[in-house]
Amino acid sequence: MTDEKATLSVGDKSIELPMYSGSAGPDVIDVRSLVQEGVFTYDPGFVSTAACESKITYIDGANGVLLHRGYKIEDLAENSDYLEVCYLLLNGELPTAEENQKFHQTIKNHTMLHDQMRNFFQGFRRDAHPMAIMCGVVGALSAFYHDSMDVADEHEREITAHRLVAKMPTIAAWCYKYSIGQPFMYPRNDLSYAENFLQMMFGVPCEEYKPNPVLAKAMDKIFILHADHEQNASTSTVRLAGSTGANPYACIASGIAALWGPAHGGANEAVLDMLAEIGDESNIEKYIAKAKDKDDPFRLMGFGHRVYKNFDPRAKVMAETAHEVLSELGLENDPLLKIAQRLEKIALEDEYFVQRKLYPNVDFYSGLILKAIGIPTSMFTVIFALSRTIGWFSHWNEMVSGNYRIGRPRQLYTGPTTREYPTK
Ligand code: SDX
Repeated sequence: MTDEKATLSVGDKSIELPMYSGSAGPDVIDVRSLVQEGVFTYDPGFVSTAACESKITYIDGANGVLLHRGYKIEDLAENSDYLEVCYLLLNGELPTAEENQKFHQTIKNHTMLHDQMRNFFQGFRRDAHPMAIMCGVVGALSAFYHDSMDVADEHEREITAHRLVAKMPTIAAWCYKYSIGQPFMYPRNDLSYAENFLQMMFGVPCEEYKPNPVLAKAMDKIFILHADHEQNASTSTVRLAGSTGANPYACIASGIAALWGPAHGGANEAVLDMLAEIGDESNIEKYIAKAKDKDDPFRLMGFGHRVYKNFDPRAKVMAETAHEVLSELGLENDPLLKIAQRLEKIALEDEYFVQRKLYPNVDFYSGLILKAIGIPTSMFTVIFALSRTIGWFSHWNEMVSGNYRIGRPRQLYTGPTTREYPTK
């Protein structure tokens, strides 16, 4: 808390507004009373707006800091695994060894889909974008769990969290299998979470799949790095949907839809498409010029961030992982990696990017790792959605387990004022 007050002068009126301090980050000004003064705040894009109070993730964009329940993302990526990070995000504390073992086992017990869900996949064209399938199938989960969707019931919220974390890899892998016409692979309980995902992606019924430990570790690290990120566009969408009392599966499906955009989670797919379009290091200068040209809609995908005005700490870990994976696979001379490294170097030295504090973000290198693992670009955002499901759910859970109101922003109206309908 703080005893500070903000004073706002509107015309000849002086309005005093309460201010609050968090445990870190900027103080906030409580503007809720302004509607009684006949004015609204105006903040399209929510650049200066705190939409909620949260204890889950803290980002210091100026210093490139990302904390999940107080733990640095670099430490979690180095020392934890995705399911332990899921437990941390959901419950607020790292699990004891016994809690961790129980959580891992619980997730294993929920990885299968209701067998009737297979029919949903059959309704899509084989060339449907896997994000379209994922939106539909995850939303459809709400048709199968009527017995446990009471948002006010803590136990039902917990079982829903377990079902979503457990089933997203199965749904994601089946989106891919469906698109290539291969049989769906069922989850295996003898494998880790990341190994199981790779098995369902690349395994076939005709032979046993042996996961590559380096690739499985890289996959788990990618899951950790995408798990949560404060009030980003898709998480804010989930919170807004949840504020109406909608069921958690519908809310997560709304987050998947929002993540799909190329300015958000679709950027990792767009980075690979961009690197392929650049094609050769000799074309980089041309594309840097396009990115700077206000009349050209082209932007350097994987660069820039609303909050980070320094390096995205996830991008640094992702760059290291990219080197590990490409070296493991003998692809350290991958031409797209060379273009990416050269592009990063040039952009970081260019005044346009330096002045605007545009640095590589989480999406700049992730696509190179996923491509090296053999995952098609159309699946990149699906993997982002798989990983971010725990972040979306944790924020939804934090909101619905406390006092909340339906989200209902206002507007600056500039349309026609009242006018008469012309008499015939
Ligand atoms: C994610 O919010 C999150 O936390 C998201 C995320 C998460 O984990 O949930 O971190 C994941 O979405 C990462 C971002 C992935 N998107 C991309 O890589 C797409 C490319 N980046 C841009 O579209 C952009 O940087 C955004 C969308 C990420 C941020 O947009 P902002 O904050 O609205 O910034 P802006 O558009 O106002 O840009 C400020 C200036 C502008 O120039 P000026 O008008 O001031 O002259 O920087 C320029 C922009 O034109 N700019 C870029 C650029 N990004 C911003 N110019 C060229 N290339 C870019 N990538």
